Amino acid sequence: MSALGDIIEAALAKPRNLSARQIETLVAVEYPAEIRAVREAAYALKVRHCGKTVSMRGLVEQGNVCAKDCLYCGIRKSNAAVRRYSLPYEEVLRAAEEAARLDYGSIVLQSGEIESEEHTRFVEKCLRGMQALPGGPFGITLSLGEQEDGVYRRWKAAGASRYLLRIETSNRELYAAMHPEGHSWERRRRCLDVLRACGYQTGTGVMSGLPGQTARDLAADVEFFAECDADMIGMGPFIPHGETPMGAGAAVTPEFKARQLRTGLNMISATRLFLHDVNIAATTALQTLAPDGREQGVLAGANVMMPNVTDVKWRKDYALYEGKPCTDENAAMCRGCLERRLAAIGETVNYGKRGDSAHFFARCAAAGTRA
Ligand code: 5AD
Ligand code: FES
Repeated sequence: MSALGDIIEAALAKPRNLSARQIETLVAVEYPAEIRAVREAAYALKVRHCGKTVSMRGLVEQGNVCAKDCLYCGIRKSNAAVRRYSLPYEEVLRAAEEAARLDYGSIVLQSGEIESEEHTRFVEKCLRGMQALPGGPFGITLSLGEQEDGVYRRWKAAGASRYLLRIETSNRELYAAMHPEGHSWERRRRCLDVLRACGYQTGTGVMSGLPGQTARDLAADVEFFAECDADMIGMGPFIPHGETPMGAGAAVTPEFKARQLRTGLNMISATRLFLHDVNIAATTALQTLAPDGREQGVLAGANVMMPNVTDVKWRKDYALYEGKPCTDENAAMCRGCLERRLAAIGETVNYGKRGDSAHFFARCAAAGTRA
């Protein structure tokens, strides 16, 4: 325990104050007393940097058409069992209006990866339309995958301020094993640099508990977040999807779920303890593993949640993994539900605030650039 106590003390003293071995110890904790000590320290840092409040992003799942074929993902191109949809402009705006009405302050626009001039224009139009809604301007995050540099610039000019692009794993061999031909770790990595250079608050993340992934890999993931100086982290446990090569035949036992949840929460805590002032999302994948998974995420150090504001009729079609929660609850129901869930752990909802990443402003100030 005392070795762990030293690690926690070093982590609390200042950001980026741990060795790879020490981060590895944090992500691998499994005894209740150790887990409790790590989570309490990470939560104390979350409260220090973000207060006892959680920022919301209304999530618009614009479409599930995807050009990629990731071996773990339910909406991969080769999954013929998916009913593909693409929300028209009016529906995207309606969902954004709902987010504004619910006073979420920030919106995330997410879809499968598509690279085309038509799609680029469509997103530009959505961004301009959303920013013109009453209650704006909003903090708008895009999560639309790898794109050409010029596309990132156009979307920034049209009103987006943040971009989320998960690296999925910092281990290139593991990345190669989870993706077919034509999917490049290097391109994805480069996109993160381009996004940063374009002035986006830049987010990345990984999946934890992947087959073949070690605690050392996960520690390297946390170091990767520091190395690319990410402002926001969105990560979650891998959850097998039966219609995918990596999920077919997988046995999702209670023990498996408990392990995935523990590792996912350990990653949140280790990231908070290493990076201090970044935004970290308590993702829906956590809730798939336990009904209070997202609240556990907050208590492990997360400060952001992304409730869905897409019309319920589309939600079942956006199943990246199985057992995704909230597919029958509309946005207003989720708002009340989240508020109650957060109140139960002594937290409030940061209504009406953009909830920007403190790290982003700190790094802009250090670089002498305007945020
Ligand atoms: N389990 C957990 N997360 C998944 N994602 C895709 N498929 C799965 C899965 N089976 C995540 C990826 C992707 C994000 C949109 O969803 O990390 O970047
Ligand atoms: Fe959707 Fe609880 S957050 S029902």
